[in-house]
Amino acid sequence: MNILVIGSGGREHAIVDALARSPRSPKIYCAPGNAGISAQAECVPLKDTDVEGLLAFAREREIDLTVVGPESALAAGVVDRFREAGLRIFGPTQAAARIESSKEFAKQLMERYDIPTAAFRTFTDYGEALAYVSARPLPAVLKYDGLAAGKGVVIAETLAEAETALKEMLLDDRFGEGKVVVEDFLTGPEFSFMCFVAGDKVCPMELAQDHKRAYDGDKGPNTGGMGAYSPLPFITDADREYALRQILEPTARAMVAEGCPFTGVLYGGLMKTPQGIRVIEFNARFGDPETEVVLPRLKSDAVEIFTAVAENRMPEQVEWHDFATLGIVLASKGYPGSYEKGAVIEGAEQAGRIFHMGTARKQGELVTAGGRVLFVVGCGATLQEARADALRKVEKIHCDNLFHRTDIGHWALEK
Ligand code: AMP
Ligand code: GLY
Repeated sequence: MNILVIGSGGREHAIVDALARSPRSPKIYCAPGNAGISAQAECVPLKDTDVEGLLAFAREREIDLTVVGPESALAAGVVDRFREAGLRIFGPTQAAARIESSKEFAKQLMERYDIPTAAFRTFTDYGEALAYVSARPLPAVLKYDGLAAGKGVVIAETLAEAETALKEMLLDDRFGEGKVVVEDFLTGPEFSFMCFVAGDKVCPMELAQDHKRAYDGDKGPNTGGMGAYSPLPFITDADREYALRQILEPTARAMVAEGCPFTGVLYGGLMKTPQGIRVIEFNARFGDPETEVVLPRLKSDAVEIFTAVAENRMPEQVEWHDFATLGIVLASKGYPGSYEKGAVIEGAEQAGRIFHMGTARKQGELVTAGGRVLFVVGCGATLQEARADALRKVEKIHCDNLFHRTDIGHWALEK
């Protein structure tokens, strides 16, 4: 069996790793992949948005299954194009991926189908947006409507902050075409609930929590994610059941009813507020870095699951390992702002299970090639053990230009 994974980060490395564990021993390609992925898959120098190039490659190499990692490839319409060509692909169509690419689409869907989320309104006019914010309690949550790699959300504590952000989003066109969702500020722990979805059929994965801020104590700027762990002791079985029955399943049914059935991974970014569980956002793909702690816990055959979902079926049973996982991102100093590339990394090969997020090989040496560089996964019977394991592995890696958080898992471990 020939499989193509699209993408080049830690998420794709974890997907490749899960596929490689399959008893079917597939031949795996990854486009474009990275230095770590190349140990388990043949990397192909094609951009994740080069839809025609990817299609030509899939035809030429007789790819049986393509798995899409990043939202950029979904937004480029890779799933639509592969399906038109009669090729099997795991991921949502462009229309279904709007649940992530358009905040307005997602919020309206939730409103129409009574899916619990923060109260909101959408604006294109700066004056109207500001008037609405002035009339609501602060802080205000301002979300630019479009893909902005997690950087399109501003939590404005003061009216002055709201004014500046709304100006950037609606008047200066910093992001492009301006539309903003303004929503109420919610409080409580956030968690990620990813489900395999094929039309109205939904199969839950284990829960994980990401850490979005750059520095310890959840301080500093927002990032793509600095660490994650699974399972989550503060989410009860009843919480999870509620999230499945009242959020993920109805959302899958709503997408069918709206004429854009979802296939692939539907990611619920949820918050456990004092009033109950609420949706913060949906993503139309595997989360990064949540995938790097969830897929190592997958016991069932990933090839079987992805193939079934791509054929609009749901596998009978998806089993998970009991052990806990906790992963730490090693990021380039300066990230999420500007940073340098090309710093030599030593010890990564000896450190155990590591997913590469942004690495390259230069004259035989492993070097940094992105903002987030490595994801070090610890495993153990408990989260404490998983964290100790991850920290031990981090110690073995040496690089002048990397930093990491030391408190990943604090929500679960220090209460
Ligand atoms: P999003 O891109 O929608 O996930 O937002 C990025 C981050 O902003 C989330 O992970 C939350 O930490 C925060 N956030 C978004 N919406 C809200 C909200 N309504 N209330 C509180 N925090 C929020
Ligand atoms: N970890 C958040 C995301 O994948 O968007």
